[in-house]
Amino acid sequence: MSSSMNQSDLESFHSHLGQSKRILALLGAGLSASSGLPTFRGAGGLWRTHDSISLATPEAFEEDPGLPNPAHYALAELARKMPGFMTLSQNVDGLSQRASHPPEQLQLLHGTLFELKCTNEDCDYRETNFTDPVVPALEIPTGSMDPRSDEARKEASKQLQAQAGGKGEDLDISDANVPIPSLTAADLPHCPKCKTNLLRPGVVWFGEALPRDVLDTVDDFLEARTEDGRPEKIDLIMVIGTSAQVTPAASYIDFARAKGAMVCVVNMDTNDAPSSGWREGDWLFQGDAAILVPELLKPVTGDVTPKI
Ligand code: OAD
Repeated sequence: MSSSMNQSDLESFHSHLGQSKRILALLGAGLSASSGLPTFRGAGGLWRTHDSISLATPEAFEEDPGLPNPAHYALAELARKMPGFMTLSQNVDGLSQRASHPPEQLQLLHGTLFELKCTNEDCDYRETNFTDPVVPALEIPTGSMDPRSDEARKEASKQLQAQAGGKGEDLDISDANVPIPSLTAADLPHCPKCKTNLLRPGVVWFGEALPRDVLDTVDDFLEARTEDGRPEKIDLIMVIGTSAQVTPAASYIDFARAKGAMVCVVNMDTNDAPSSGWREGDWLFQGDAAILVPELLKPVTGDVTPKI
């Protein structure tokens, strides 16, 4: 699939961008596809082909800023250039943060994998955590012994602690036929604050509400008023690399339209649309977000090359 753009669409988009002051971006897994992370609904499922260790250590975070792609950098630069730009990301991969997207202009609708929180909602414990695996018991078992055995788990733990790694091949735990060790609650991390409950990843699981503070911040942006009390318009929403199937995230497209926003879609497959569909006058740019987004934002951001 090519990532070329119709010149007159590009020009009309640039002209509107130049007049825009309040912009939203709704980001999905397609933004990170060019960084090597498979999308949710595309072939391959979530992150199975990626070595999670290259994402999940503090060293990697500092030493390998190469993972964010030019689109992450361009969006981060737009945020710095335009205080009225707010990004709503469904991605839990931490790549916008790595591209130094200003945190106050980045709302993580589905949380982040790099935070742990207490499973008890009444306990407010949260920590940033890049340890992979978060406890030795979750180390991927090697192929040298029965992975269901206690022995295998202890061995995995020993390997991790000695940083020896790699005795035998890692088992492919994405294969449902591969047995994995059975864990007890005692093997899993416990909350250091309330000391009773387990810790869990700081992501939104299906059936859970989106984080209250994030929803409030987005509502404040949507409902902003001018000094003399008139509702503020939203000029543009950019819908980038998302199938727009998951609500409430996808509903922000219609909320933005209701505030006057023009809609710009960047997707490998622009047939992926929210239930309300795309409309005449929406910009549909078909192709790789990593190529198209920097091009679309260039008049404001200039050339954005990753700062490696
Ligand atoms: P999906 O996997 O549903 O959609 C990814 C979209 O990106 C598709 O529309 C692809 O066509 C498009 N795409 C793929 N590669 C691309 C590329 N290089 N450039 C541009 N577009 C590309 O992922 P999301 O829409 O992010 O929720 O999924 C939304 C939510 O559903 C996720 O946040 C997750 C999932 O269940 C939670 O984890 C709560």
